Amino acid sequence: MTDQSMFDTDVWTLTRFVMETGRQAKGSTGELTQLINSLTFAIKAISSAVRKAGLAHLQGIAGQINATGDDVKKLDVLSNDLCINMLKSSFGSCCLVSEENKEAVIIPADKRGKYVVCFDPLDGSSNIDCLASIGTIFAIYKRTSEGEPTEKDALQKGNNIVCAGYALYGSATLVALSTGAGVNFFMLDPAVGEFILTERNVKIKKKGKTYSLNEGYAKYFDAGLTEYLHKKKFPEDGSSPYGARYVGSMVSDIHRTICYGGIFMYPANEKSPKGKLRLLYECNPIAFIIEQAGGKATTGHERILDVQPETIHQRVPFIVGSPDDVDEFLACVKKHQK
Ligand code: F6P
Repeated sequence: MTDQSMFDTDVWTLTRFVMETGRQAKGSTGELTQLINSLTFAIKAISSAVRKAGLAHLQGIAGQINATGDDVKKLDVLSNDLCINMLKSSFGSCCLVSEENKEAVIIPADKRGKYVVCFDPLDGSSNIDCLASIGTIFAIYKRTSEGEPTEKDALQKGNNIVCAGYALYGSATLVALSTGAGVNFFMLDPAVGEFILTERNVKIKKKGKTYSLNEGYAKYFDAGLTEYLHKKKFPEDGSSPYGARYVGSMVSDIHRTICYGGIFMYPANEKSPKGKLRLLYECNPIAFIIEQAGGKATTGHERILDVQPETIHQRVPFIVGSPDDVDEFLACVKKHQK
């Protein structure tokens, strides 16, 4: 006999969750629900491709350089095509900004909807071939202009985000999603091919025990950051030193930070005065999720979601995590400000 206790017969799928929250929103037309459902399909397909990349000859480079100067991997191309095609066919978007496309993708007039989507189809792609966790990141905005859409429609502050999230292709596939009312986690159940709500209203710890950055660049760090890291390694208040963790795939490092607390940094340094990470499709969506979970996200001088974007592939320094940890970092920055 089947043990029925194993099965939830009133299960909350991501689709159900988005439909229900959409219906509660004043003046909603179902367009955002449609768009998220299409994007969710792209994520499932990317997850499947990631899982069989080695077998399906999807590892390795595609032989191009992307808009931000990185080697393009075969899985990057596939993931980007999936996201663009699914978003196009959702009838919910008008302008797309992808890490993989130098220019914004303007959706043909007969397929247009009112949303602008900025995304990194496969973040952490240098980790593809060694099977470390990678992810997809996205932010959705309402278009604010009229007439023919242009890339300017994507130059909105993160404060305007309507919905953001990330997918993590880790030991399981997970989607973290927020429509501005907290963060929820959905885990992909491969048996039914659906994302299932596993954690509601996720909150980050006030303070963690871990710092996360590429410390190999220490030679180029400024005095504020150097002092902060020294304090984490040699605490003078009797507390234990922080642990160091760095996967090098932002989605993995961020997901761990949300689950366990702590701080993740890709700061500005002497060599990269603007850091490395891109505002529109890496920093803004993650900052939105982190703030919705009770954390903080800053450039070191300004709240990430307040930064006015000037170009679609713009980089910003990115420091994010538990509120007390980010505040302690900011105090060190302030102390060394000239
Ligand atoms: O922007 C892509 C990315 O792979 C992030 O996912 C990651 O946090 C970062 O770059 C790693 O960069 P680095 O190799 O300089 O530490």
